Amino acid sequence: MTNDVWNGGGRRLHLQEVGTRDGLQVEAQFVPTEDKIALVNALADAGLAKIEVTSFVSPKAIPQLRDAEIVLREIHRRPGVVYSALVPNARGAERAVESKADELNLVMSATASHNLTNLRMTQAQSFAALKDTAAVAREAGVPINVSLSCCFGCPMEGDVAEDVVLDWCARYVQEMGSDGISLCDTTGMAYPTQVERLTRAFRRRFPHTQLTLHFHNTRGMGLANVLAGIAAGADRFDASVGGIGGCPYAPGATGNVCTEEIAHALALMGYDTGVDLERLLAAGRRLPGLIGHDIPSQLVKAGRRLDLHPRPADFEAIKARAEARG
Ligand code: COA
Ligand code: ZN
Repeated sequence: MTNDVWNGGGRRLHLQEVGTRDGLQVEAQFVPTEDKIALVNALADAGLAKIEVTSFVSPKAIPQLRDAEIVLREIHRRPGVVYSALVPNARGAERAVESKADELNLVMSATASHNLTNLRMTQAQSFAALKDTAAVAREAGVPINVSLSCCFGCPMEGDVAEDVVLDWCARYVQEMGSDGISLCDTTGMAYPTQVERLTRAFRRRFPHTQLTLHFHNTRGMGLANVLAGIAAGADRFDASVGGIGGCPYAPGATGNVCTEEIAHALALMGYDTGVDLERLLAAGRRLPGLIGHDIPSQLVKAGRRLDLHPRPADFEAIKARAEARG
């Protein structure tokens, strides 16, 4: 069954912000802690359902997020918003639990090469580490989500078979009791028909697991992939404000799909994303000042489609000349 993707009909979709983690982790410039806190608060006030606030990884590996504890402690917790954190191992889980993250996001890759490059472990080692990590979360009563990278293709290995992806998912659900799974297009290799197929297969096999789709806009297919996901029954999407981000170990990787672009398009199509676009845009506009460079967001550049522009100063003269010509 394909949902009528063209008619939102007020259907609720959940936009999950990852810019503060997936985005800021690759910035050359360290964003000051108080600016990160203000950004997270602004994003929560803009109505995002979930925010991946930071990651509890080695500060040597990702120095940009070395202030994870302070950020999670100091943000204002808006009721209803899920504040999640990425953790690579049990040590990270202990830190995240201590900092009262609402959800832990665990990562591994669908391919051996990307897993080794990104996490410096074989997939078997990663899976064992994830189990230990999940045990820390269970013990603390904190839900877990597993983000599986490269589900739609690997920059080193190419296409990834659907069964490979779904078999990893089965292990997360059955052996670790994962509450949610994110199918991640880490390097922007996903395309709409593939997304529709994989999403539908996932939904069929794991009807009770919370599914998130995580796309990067590397090849300009981000929004098309989101729509394909909706058509196949997905209702949760990761996105980053300003469209910042990209895995540091994925050559040429660019940002996540841009939160304000997705929210803008989905609102026009009649979906309920819960997002206050004005507030979200305000947060996006502040980003270049924080990270020291331009951002991909087309919406920050162009404004909403009905943000009208004044007619040119000589409009009346143009009109008079045109009318004089008869
Ligand atoms: N929090 C803080 N420090 C940590 C840590 C954590 N969760 N996990 C490991 N460390 C520290 C160790 O204490 C050790 O420090 P030392 O050098 O001062 O002794 C150092 O990191 C290396 O630890 P080790 O266990 O040998 O792991 P590693 O070098 O194989 O690194 C990772 C593995 C995954 C922990 C590390 O590469 C990492 O954090 N990478 C970030 C991955 C990431 O976020 N990628 C982008 C998102 S997909
Ligand atoms: Zn990503």
